[in-house]
Amino acid sequence: MRIDILTLFPGMFSGPFDFSIIRRAIDKGIVEIHLHDLRDFSKNKYRTVDDYPFGGGAGMVMMAEPIADCITRLKDERDYDEVIFLTPDGQLLEQKMSNELSLKGNLILLCGHYKGVDERVREHFITKEISIGDYVLSGGEIAAIVLADSIIRIIPGVLGDETSALSDSFQDGLLSPPVYTRPADFKGWKVPEVLISGHEAKIREWRLQQAIERTKNRRPGLLEEKD
Ligand code: ADE
Repeated sequence: MRIDILTLFPGMFSGPFDFSIIRRAIDKGIVEIHLHDLRDFSKNKYRTVDDYPFGGGAGMVMMAEPIADCITRLKDERDYDEVIFLTPDGQLLEQKMSNELSLKGNLILLCGHYKGVDERVREHFITKEISIGDYVLSGGEIAAIVLADSIIRIIPGVLGDETSALSDSFQDGLLSPPVYTRPADFKGWKVPEVLISGHEAKIREWRLQQAIERTKNRRPGLLEEKD
């Protein structure tokens, strides 16, 4: 998979993409991430990429031209499956969408800033608009990092143990059951007996019951969605 990220702040991505699972996916050659500084596509010597909104009002708007030029150049080089704009008024990100996007080949992610981007970019270039939650971030970068992480970790071959992504919370519409590791007795707090019984069927059943219980208590809406 190739992910091209269009941003005013490419430096924001250096930490999150340099560690752990994403780093491993990049090192294994399973995913390529390319950052594009939209200021490089500005037409003036001050490298401006924003301007006042027509009709007045507070805040600046990201101009159409630098974004259009960057996307056009990328599309001249290869085909893209989706051109995604991260925005609080987009479709709410859920596991199902990450699963679907993890099967794609090439994605463009556009990070917005200020008051938003010129609507004509959204009309003519964007194929999908995604929000990572009902709150407003200062820009699309953190949302793009969240989206990229949720996609990359489930690409086949990224996680060592293929089954571990499948047993994540949400993959089967349930939250994950509790987990424990050694010691079996910590300060007198004991691990549930069944987990050290060695009885695989009983352990599976216990985990399922715990997952259902947890989902009922914490996210009952998920159980309704299942029906
Ligand atoms: N940009 C600002 N807030 C956002 C959000 N909640 N999701 C996606 N992009 C955003």
